[in-house]
Amino acid sequence: MAYQVEIIPSGTHFETEEKESLLHAALRAGLNVDHGCTNGACGHCKVRVLNGELSRIRHHDFILGDAEKSAGDILMCCHSARSDLKLEASLATDGSDIPIQEITTRIRRLEHVDDNTLRLYLRTPRGKTLRFIAGQHAVLNLGNNLQRELPIASCPCDGLNLEFHLHRDSSDAFTNAIFEHAKKSMSIHISAPCNGITLVENDPSPILFIAWGIGFAPVQSLIENCLSLAFQQEMVFHWVVHEHEKHYADGYCRSTSDAIDNFHYNPVQTTTATEAIEEILNWHDNVEPWRSYIFAPPAIIDSVIDALSEKGLAKEKIQSDPIVA
Ligand code: FES
Repeated sequence: MAYQVEIIPSGTHFETEEKESLLHAALRAGLNVDHGCTNGACGHCKVRVLNGELSRIRHHDFILGDAEKSAGDILMCCHSARSDLKLEASLATDGSDIPIQEITTRIRRLEHVDDNTLRLYLRTPRGKTLRFIAGQHAVLNLGNNLQRELPIASCPCDGLNLEFHLHRDSSDAFTNAIFEHAKKSMSIHISAPCNGITLVENDPSPILFIAWGIGFAPVQSLIENCLSLAFQQEMVFHWVVHEHEKHYADGYCRSTSDAIDNFHYNPVQTTTATEAIEEILNWHDNVEPWRSYIFAPPAIIDSVIDALSEKGLAKEKIQSDPIVA
């Protein structure tokens, strides 16, 4: 049986299944509620119940004081709904709402999608999730002064399993260390979240995602977040790669486009940025109503912004994030 949960003061709603933890249901719905361990130890997911019946589904080591208990405070990761609920909780909507977390992760998997592109999957320790907003970055530190800030490619709904995409640059010690020496279970320390661009809240404009190469990584996180939030507006993703490269997540993009009526995917393969921009613009009769999120190398971003604004998209409706290997 499913129940409706209202969160105030935001007025947001989400649906939860019987026996599902309230935290899991909120994250599944794309809501960024405070949380940490997911198992009753840290107390970060404390909310106040204003209305409704609950079941406790897990013991928690975190101790709530008598005043908190009598005010109706509970831990979302340890309770499920037994009726519709009204909760008082704050939601993070802006990157600056979330403090930087320091976590030592381990490599769960390395996927070499071609000679120069790699998907890196990290796992946080048990009971330690990374809280972030789609589009934000993390700093990965390998030790020996080897560190790199990269966009997080995975969904904020699963802070235990993190994904990053890298492009090999033979002159760069960090990417060489990952491509040549990284192995399953190797530890990588991350500091996150930081920087990046996140979805503009409460904006009903149709969304134009534009990415070059591994700029796909933050787009994947944002698409997952848009789907969790059940965005109704039209979304188009133009993914540009060089003619000798491939769209390494083409299957994911095509299957998402097939499954979601308001999501469209346009793979672009060209030799020059000018050709790519022309192809993207030709796709649209009118870009004026859109909001655009661009993830491209620094040398290309300004050309894309200029081309979009010349075609009628106001510059304040364009967010961009320079992507490096
Ligand atoms: S997330 Fe740590 S107690 Fe719920």
